[in-house]
Amino acid sequence: MKKALTHQTFLLFTCSMLLVACGKIGSNNANSTNNPTATTNAVNAIPIGIAFAQTSNVALLGQEGTDGVKIAEKYFNNKGGINGRPIKLIYQDTGSDEVGAINAFQTLINKDKVVGIVGPTLSQQAFSADPVAERNQVPVIGASNTAKGIPEIGDYVARVSSSVAVVAPYSVKAALKQNPQIKRVAVFYAQNDAFNKSETEIFQKTVTNLGLDLVTVQKFQTTDTDFQAQASDAINLKPDLVIISGLAVDGGNLVKQLRELGYKGIIVGGNGFNTSHIFSVCRALCDGVIVAQAYSPIYASEINTAFRKAYLEQYHREPPQVSAQAFAALQVYVEALQSLDKKTNINKLRLPQLRTELNKELLTKKFQTPLGEIAFTPVGDVIQKEFYVAQLKMESNGVNGKFSFLNIK
Ligand code: ALA
Repeated sequence: MKKALTHQTFLLFTCSMLLVACGKIGSNNANSTNNPTATTNAVNAIPIGIAFAQTSNVALLGQEGTDGVKIAEKYFNNKGGINGRPIKLIYQDTGSDEVGAINAFQTLINKDKVVGIVGPTLSQQAFSADPVAERNQVPVIGASNTAKGIPEIGDYVARVSSSVAVVAPYSVKAALKQNPQIKRVAVFYAQNDAFNKSETEIFQKTVTNLGLDLVTVQKFQTTDTDFQAQASDAINLKPDLVIISGLAVDGGNLVKQLRELGYKGIIVGGNGFNTSHIFSVCRALCDGVIVAQAYSPIYASEINTAFRKAYLEQYHREPPQVSAQAFAALQVYVEALQSLDKKTNINKLRLPQLRTELNKELLTKKFQTPLGEIAFTPVGDVIQKEFYVAQLKMESNGVNGKFSFLNIK
């Protein structure tokens, strides 16, 4: 009897000390997933925070991230979670700005007591919110942050989304392969957004390094809808190639207006164009835009086949890059928790210790993800091997389209 009581007391004590607090964590969260699987209802689920944009003009991109982590949550829980213990995703909306991201991070860290965070959606938000996680010693994995300097924010910050510095040049080279006569290049970028400012630097450097003429650099805001002035100025300079760093809505509108004003050359879009949500913005006029990719739906591996199948069954279209990256980010947490648990029973670690050990563990491992094999540099940047380039192919109705992968070898 004494032994049983002691055991119970120990359990209660352990529960009160543990990160998961035996069913308490996440239970009072209004934004928790509303369609949890049976396993994620388990009271001792391990909470992982998801800080994506659910509202605002960035919600389209945030939704793609959410789609990816939801598939991953179900996939890994069906496979037994963390050595038998499920994970549970806890969502907080970041909106589109820095304040929204900081608030989401603070809630996930202090109220929801998550072991780590996936997010935020924009690099612009990451530069403000990631330092909050760093100060609290909570791991963050960016799933769509591609600006230069993200992993360098701190020891607890990593990302699975390859930097613009690595990805962007592929699309310019693919454009030159399609039209070796390209000489005059006009560059556009959204000057109010960190990732786009970072990406345009890479694009401009690539243009110059390839011996092309940078005939103009035009600026806009991600909130702009009218691009007539900048588009006309650029067209007057007779470019053979236009390169745009913007997000889906502004970028898509710029493509539309360039075409309406008569520009007929190739258009390269940056990483912000990497979403099928752009189809509804520039519709038939999106046709032909070239975008580099850090993911291919047809990448042959067991996990990508499973991810793609689950995505196709649910959404009836090919998975976009950000969904695959979000899946991979969650996979990193799951597999790092699994291996940590095999070394040190994670049920016995207090939350601060678990967060720190988890951060150390994930930085040392290799992961076979839908993006291919990935690992991290010591500072937390993703090491990825395969990159791709796709071209938007729109059906003549202007409604349906797809990313058609190009041969870039
Ligand atoms: N790739 C975009 C960014 O880093 C979404 O902000």
